[in-house]
Amino acid sequence: MRSLSVVFLALLAGLGMADTAMAAGGADVLQQQCSSCHALTKPADASLDRLWERKGPDLYYAGVKFNREWLEAWLQNPTTIRPGGVMYAKAIKASADKTADTIDTGKLTPHVKLGKADSAAAADALMKLGADLNLVQKGAFKNGSPGPMAKMLFSKLRGCSSCHSAKGGDGGRSGPELGDAGSRLQPDFMVAYINNPQKFDPHIWMPTLGLTDADVQKLTGYLLTLKHTEAQ
Ligand code: HEC
Ligand code: HEC
Repeated sequence: MRSLSVVFLALLAGLGMADTAMAAGGADVLQQQCSSCHALTKPADASLDRLWERKGPDLYYAGVKFNREWLEAWLQNPTTIRPGGVMYAKAIKASADKTADTIDTGKLTPHVKLGKADSAAAADALMKLGADLNLVQKGAFKNGSPGPMAKMLFSKLRGCSSCHSAKGGDGGRSGPELGDAGSRLQPDFMVAYINNPQKFDPHIWMPTLGLTDADVQKLTGYLLTLKHTEAQ
């Protein structure tokens, strides 16, 4: 009797989850549960204040940025991407001599988790955002093999690792971790972003570095190899 009711409850819970997504639809999930922190349409206000005050990264071009499978999985089991939060300057605890600033992780709150059906619906809705904005050129990534210098470009020659870690905390913390960039991001997006971050946000603190196309292709090729699938 007891085990039967457990099965029954599990069934109910399963149905309940599927129901929310079906009744609400992905666009409604985004509107109701996500829009308080994330811009789902291009903000009219592109000021520095807006960047400073926003509670989460912009999602209005999610459809040209993320891989759908990554979205669906991450929304069910979110992990930290920006070790200093969405605005790292707010989480910095300065040390007396400024040489050993640390991040106040107490200021970071865990991300909302979605069930399976809601994640799938939200991922579908997110993949519809941004295609019409002309931010990313289809086919911009051409180079399949990054070559032996690519890692060096990232870590030493072009200074990317002063803001980004490529693997498990080894690198700067003011930009998103790129240790699973290959699973998370579309290659054409990476090319567009590395070329001109300010096209995505006029006040974002990643510099436009004026790299040659060959370097951008190599860097993107390198980032594509970074995936969290196998144990590190
Ligand atoms: C309370 C604010 C808040 C709410 C509500 C919220 N998020 Fe987030 N979201 C964040 C923050 C902060 C981050 C950055 C996390 C990180 O980088 O470690 C984030 C990151 C993300 C990312 C990764 C973005 C990127 O550029 O790396 C996605 C996708 C996302 N959220 C989707 C959603 C969806 C879908 C919902 C609604 C079901 C939602 N979020 C609700 C604050 C929020
Ligand atoms: C001064 C710090 C800084 C440097 C140097 C820097 N970045 Fe960034 N980068 C950022 C910030 C900040 C973002 C966007 C953060 C956000 O969306 O919240 C970003 C975003 C990105 C993204 C998009 C990832 C995402 O999740 O939105 C890629 C790809 C990227 N950087 C690659 C590079 C590469 C390659 C280099 C070196 C050529 C580099 N960055 C140098 C700070 C930096």
